Amino acid sequence: MPAYQFILNGQTVSVEAPADLPLLWALRDLLGVTGPKYGCGVGVCGACTSHLDGEAFRPCIQPVSGVAGTQVTTIEGLGGPGLHPVQQAWIAEDVAQCGFCQPGQIMAAVSLLRKNLDPTDADIDAAMSDNVCRCGTYVRIRAAIKRAARVLREKAEGGTDTR
Ligand code: FES
Ligand code: FES
Repeated sequence: MPAYQFILNGQTVSVEAPADLPLLWALRDLLGVTGPKYGCGVGVCGACTSHLDGEAFRPCIQPVSGVAGTQVTTIEGLGGPGLHPVQQAWIAEDVAQCGFCQPGQIMAAVSLLRKNLDPTDADIDAAMSDNVCRCGTYVRIRAAIKRAARVLREKAEGGTDTR
């Protein structure tokens, strides 16, 4: 079986798998990285949302062969030392209910805030509309994104790391 090497949360990993194995299966079943959740398996719920070279993507529809040589970041690798400001905002706004969708929500929110540090409600709705939450935490998600945006803007103005 072929082996595919990539950087996962800052560490080089190699995984032997069929070329068309969805990355989500490689992460969860072969590499023990279970933050990205299996919701639909067809790219429509957002539960598995992670980052590929810094951009949000859906590992359930990404063949493992396609990530060779790339950098994959899951919720486990987001924070570095300490929690990411988006994770801190999630806690402050008490966003999670059952929690299942939340890793994907957070990864989508980080991707949005990397492009737009002052998102309007419409910007948030547009960026987050494909991340489904069966518990209906959308109002708190929006509040947490705005809270994180404020913190990240202050960091950017102060010249510190906004990740
Ligand atoms: S499990 Fe990947 S988008 Fe639903
Ligand atoms: S918190 Fe339960 S699905 Fe979103």
